[in-house]
Amino acid sequence: MLTQQQLKQQSADAALAFIEPLLGPDVVIGVGTGSTADLFIDGLARLRGRLRGAVASSERSAARLAGHGLDVLDLNDVQAMPVYIDGADEIDARLHMIKGGGGALTREKIVASVADRYICIADESKLVERLGAFPLPIEVIPMAREAVARAVVALGGQPRLRDGFVTDNGNIILDVAGLHIDDAPGLEARLNNLPGVVTCGLFAQSGAHVALLATQQGIRELHRP
Ligand code: A5P
Repeated sequence: MLTQQQLKQQSADAALAFIEPLLGPDVVIGVGTGSTADLFIDGLARLRGRLRGAVASSERSAARLAGHGLDVLDLNDVQAMPVYIDGADEIDARLHMIKGGGGALTREKIVASVADRYICIADESKLVERLGAFPLPIEVIPMAREAVARAVVALGGQPRLRDGFVTDNGNIILDVAGLHIDDAPGLEARLNNLPGVVTCGLFAQSGAHVALLATQQGIRELHRP
């Protein structure tokens, strides 16, 4: 029986195998945030010299990449990336996701938007039939905290301020429980449209393209329907 850590490693290794044929001296890839992304970054160190560098979705991942001697590029200096590799807190069969458990959701969404394909790496426990058991993180500009919280309550959610947490962008996170997510792209648009919301952790208007989910029986590869 593989542990969750071993499953995460398996998923990170699958992503490294997936990207290897895409690499070249001018290639830049996007790299996400979280414990599974950390394992991917550690493995990417072995491929140093086979790519130009990476754009990171957080200060944490940037430091880890740089610690391995990998070049960390500013997204403003990068026009295209073949892939963005990152985990998820929940993913469904349509490859819609909830992200932001690590609080890096905004930069994750920005970096992913520039890449051709989002490759989601996770263990199979992240695969759900319906999104929403994991409280949905929303990054909010501090002065809008109460206004956004009231709007979220009106939508049926129970917001909770992530205590003592400040995002890389200087904002707060509201973790919202109790939402019924039947229409993930619609809810994503609605939440993102609230004044003061930087972005919500639904990645559904543009979800993952491929999921490499580690199971006890090996990697299960899902593609966007
Ligand atoms: C970071 O903000 C999140 O979006 C992560 O992708 C997510 O929390 C997955 O992290 P793990 O790989 O640690 O489960």
